[in-house]
Amino acid sequence: MLEKLNYYLQGQAASVPTYILEQLILNLCGWVPTVGGIGLRALAYRLIMRLDGLPAIESGVRIAHASNIHLAKGVYLDQGVYLHAMPAGISIGENTFIMHHTMMHVFNFRNLPKAGITIGKNCFIGEFNVMRGQGGVHIGNDVYTGPMVQIVAVNHVFSDPNRPIREQGITANGIIIEDDVWLGSGAKVVDGVTVGRGSIIGAGSVVTKDIPPYSIAIGTPAKPIRDRRDMTDSQRQQAGVFFGALEELRDNRK
Ligand SMILES: CC(C)(COP(=O)(O)OP(=O)(O)OC[C@H]1O[C@@H](n2cnc3c(N)ncnc32)[C@H](O)[C@@H]1OP(=O)(O)O)[C@@H](O)C(=O)NCCC(=O)NCCS
Repeated sequence: MLEKLNYYLQGQAASVPTYILEQLILNLCGWVPTVGGIGLRALAYRLIMRLDGLPAIESGVRIAHASNIHLAKGVYLDQGVYLHAMPAGISIGENTFIMHHTMMHVFNFRNLPKAGITIGKNCFIGEFNVMRGQGGVHIGNDVYTGPMVQIVAVNHVFSDPNRPIREQGITANGIIIEDDVWLGSGAKVVDGVTVGRGSIIGAGSVVTKDIPPYSIAIGTPAKPIRDRRDMTDSQRQQAGVFFGALEELRDNRK
């Protein structure tokens, strides 16, 4: 029983006193609605996380191992976001938005040497994204992901058919998403892969191998069909191009 309690607490915070402090602040402030709650959390969460400036954290954000989280200024965490930051934690760069119900889980219960999740600045992580950071997930600047994207830096070992997969350990090499990448909705990236700078991954594609810079890659497994540097304006752009208030806001901050 005690062993189970200990396992649970290790999954929640760096130590028992840290657990008590983090839970106190998260439970006192985490539910408070409206912009008032966002202001309260921007101040109170400094006691338990590393915050630069005043990040906007909506109500109902679930956080474990808060002491391993760094949020730069201008970060936005939407309702339902779940950050679980066992060592080496989660770091989110300036002006990056993490949308509704996205989950980032470092899942480092086994002292994995490369574990952690880092996201650069001016990124937009869409709704219901899932990141597993056992091997390290490193996302550059200006990366946009559609809804339901999954980036999973871990594989189970399954070479022995006579033993349950769960007993055979894991491998965790890491995933790198370089600057200015757009991952279409429902795209999945598996462990050990680098998506090169400026690339686009089509909706629903599964990325199993490195993608060279500036590729448009689609399908399962994702294969480059075009180099963005050779492109001319597409028909779709002729139908109308729109710019968002978020981009204007970011331009004004420069
Ligand atoms: C990849 C994408 C950007 C289109 O790129 P494009 O260079 O304009 O490609 P085209 O539309 O000319 O399509 C080229 C070929 O790829 C196919 N294709 C396009 N997207 C595909 C996808 N996601 N999966 C599989 N095939 C796809 C097209 O059917 C076409 O095939 P064809 O040559 O046999 O007719 C787009 O299809 C896509 O997937 N967008 C993501 C949308 C999204 O997730 N939005 C959420 C907002 S964040």
